[in-house]
Amino acid sequence: MSRAFPLSRTTGPVSEEERRTILAAPGFGKFFTDHMASATWTPAKGWHDHKVTALAPYSLHPSAAVLHYAQEIFEGLKAYRHADGSVWLFRPEFNARRFARSAERLALPVLPEEDFLTSVEELVRADEAWVPSSPDEKSLYLRPFMFASEAFLGVRPAEQIAYSVIASPAGPYFAGGVTGITLWVSSNYTRAGRGGTGAAKCGGNYASSLAAQIESRKNGCDQVLFLDDTGGEGDLEESGTMNLCLVTSAGELVTPALGNILDGVTRDSILSLAGEFGLTPVERPITLSELRSGAADGTVTEVFAAGTAAVVTPIVGFKGESKGEGYAFTIGTGTPGKQTLAIREHMLDIQYGRAEDVHGWMRRVV
Ligand code: COI
Repeated sequence: MSRAFPLSRTTGPVSEEERRTILAAPGFGKFFTDHMASATWTPAKGWHDHKVTALAPYSLHPSAAVLHYAQEIFEGLKAYRHADGSVWLFRPEFNARRFARSAERLALPVLPEEDFLTSVEELVRADEAWVPSSPDEKSLYLRPFMFASEAFLGVRPAEQIAYSVIASPAGPYFAGGVTGITLWVSSNYTRAGRGGTGAAKCGGNYASSLAAQIESRKNGCDQVLFLDDTGGEGDLEESGTMNLCLVTSAGELVTPALGNILDGVTRDSILSLAGEFGLTPVERPITLSELRSGAADGTVTEVFAAGTAAVVTPIVGFKGESKGEGYAFTIGTGTPGKQTLAIREHMLDIQYGRAEDVHGWMRRVV
């Protein structure tokens, strides 16, 4: 049964003027709304203390388990304002189910799907004024997360867990997004091993991606592309924050199969939409050699990344190192592909209510 997240309004909201200035140029993840939703779990009481209150720092004991063993998971989804002023979420049920799977993998208690949805919706309603009105890829990014807050140093599943949702007005994730980005193919670092946490959305996966991200920047790239754990010529997995999709001259939309990668909401939606673009959706392993030879002989015509934060981001080139030799290659002419841009527009049109929601993906909140 879903529980309410009753609202206690903040007594010190951000002024209207300051909020307007923030919403004009929010960037990504830099500013936060006035409230947060939260709940607590213990074995004795289960989930309790559901509420929406003023956004405030936590008070954590220095031995809190999350600070030592990273027992933590999170989600990312957005609230979009439509032209008529209404506010909608995109497939939040998908996030709720993935959050539950991540919780199981990290030995955290499962938050019921209805509680996930209610917490997100109540926070959006409390902070509705923070949902940007201009449709230029601005939205309210929502970040549900859960962590081990129990104070103890032994290694076991924690018996006190904090769940919260915070919200942050957002513009495009990559400032130069639509012009295309270049990925660094990491041969020094992998993202996840067999049986590891690759399919879970846990902070540890992102922490371990940071050294590779630094390496990618040093090599003049925007993001990293991880391969599987068999080494430098393995299967493509995912980028630091996004799933990967290839368009082929045979009319396929190919993306790495699930298993060790994140089951992305955008990835899943694009697979469903592929047919509308004359593309056959295919989920299968893809090797780096296949990508390189496909880019060279023109059988891979476009590549893009898909994620909630980044939406659909064209990938125009790759760089890497193999057997001590650097290499670089572009996809097509090194500019964003036509299908990529069309899919991106269509996704945004659905999310902002400009295209009919034939899949029933949008959920109205306000
Ligand atoms: C998202 O796309 O929502 C993510 O979680 C990626 C990133 C900002 C960590």
